[in-house]
Amino acid sequence: MSSLQIGPHTVQPPVVLAPMAGITNAPFRTLCREFSGGKGLFVSEMITTRALVERNEKTMQLIHFDATEKPRSIQLYGVDPDTVGKAVRMIAEEDLADHIDLNFGCPVPKVTRKGGGSALPYKRNLLRSILRAAVGNAGSLPVTIKMRKGIDDDHLTYLDAGRIAVEEGITAVALHGRTAAQHYSGTADWDTIARLKEHVGAISEIPVLGNGDIWSADDAKRMMRATGCDGVVVGRGCLGRPWLFGDLVAAFEGREEDYARPTMKEVADVMVRHATLLGEWLGDEARGVIDFRKHVAWYTKGFSVGSEMRRKLAVSSSLAELADHLSALDLDQPWPAGADGPRGRTSGRDRVVLPDGWLDDPYDCAGVGADAELDTSGG
Ligand SMILES: Cc1cc2nc3c(=O)[nH]c(=O)nc-3n(C[C@H](O)[C@H](O)[C@H](O)COP(=O)(O)O)c2cc1C
Repeated sequence: MSSLQIGPHTVQPPVVLAPMAGITNAPFRTLCREFSGGKGLFVSEMITTRALVERNEKTMQLIHFDATEKPRSIQLYGVDPDTVGKAVRMIAEEDLADHIDLNFGCPVPKVTRKGGGSALPYKRNLLRSILRAAVGNAGSLPVTIKMRKGIDDDHLTYLDAGRIAVEEGITAVALHGRTAAQHYSGTADWDTIARLKEHVGAISEIPVLGNGDIWSADDAKRMMRATGCDGVVVGRGCLGRPWLFGDLVAAFEGREEDYARPTMKEVADVMVRHATLLGEWLGDEARGVIDFRKHVAWYTKGFSVGSEMRRKLAVSSSLAELADHLSALDLDQPWPAGADGPRGRTSGRDRVVLPDGWLDDPYDCAGVGADAELDTSGG
């Protein structure tokens, strides 16, 4: 069975839970790890470097790992080499994680308007400075990057970014096969993953990971075959479906017959467990159930639940209330065909909002406004 090497960490099978802001916190990672038997790599939601360096209270909670989580994987988002360097040094010196991923994929206008997120790799020298600062302060920690194809089809950046990553000592690169302009629309372009693998493979042996539109464990194997990539990063397919990680492990171990097809009752049990873990993590049951609300539609997708009941589930404010509503469902329902396939965000946007003159010179050495770092909503 193939494995993935991220610095000192062997990831077997080569499957990674994509960082998702507001989703891949410690409770969600715990659930996914329970289903995978601890196999795979599970990346935290994105942490902004400035908030980390300033020891913002909420940020310090976000970087919490369960005692059994190994390796501990943190994703950072930063736009300023100095601040990124300080954040990485803090993680290394204070032993806060075992792996650092850097996010260059965020497409939200609030961030690209300032030159951050998926707009940043266009400025090759700035990208290089950030990577250099990160690797230079990481000690023995492996640093990886995650990016998109580019800003739009006329401004692709992934091949240059892959080369710069190799030159700056990055341990692995992951590519989401969409441009920023696409947001989550259309289909991910797996050909670009193959092209990046070839491009990086010509100068280095660092792993290339593919990301985008893996909705089933079979999709993961298909992407690896189609692109030659060394591992897969799975995001939206896990929303309301943490057992997908069990399927991924089964697929790579040749146990396709073990794919989970949970009944409504089994899904309801996972829902209660997820909400319980969130409550424990937040130190308050009600806050946990409220944070869980966003997951309800994903867990119940395709099941015969009814809009009124979906609404009730999504406004529950205690575990007892949530469990009570769930017990009123037809719990014998088998896993519905309608639950397979795409889930989560699938929409797009035409034009990427950028700072004035951003596209004029890919090699100028201007920095990015610190306010490009305020976003917390992902990639
Ligand atoms: C709700 C949500 C939050 C996300 N947050 C992040 C993030 O914090 N960092 C990041 O690099 N990507 C983030 N992403 C992008 C995913 O990591 C992934 O690249 C993208 O969803 C494509 O993979 P998929 O088709 O498997 O979902 C987010 C995506 C979603 C849907």
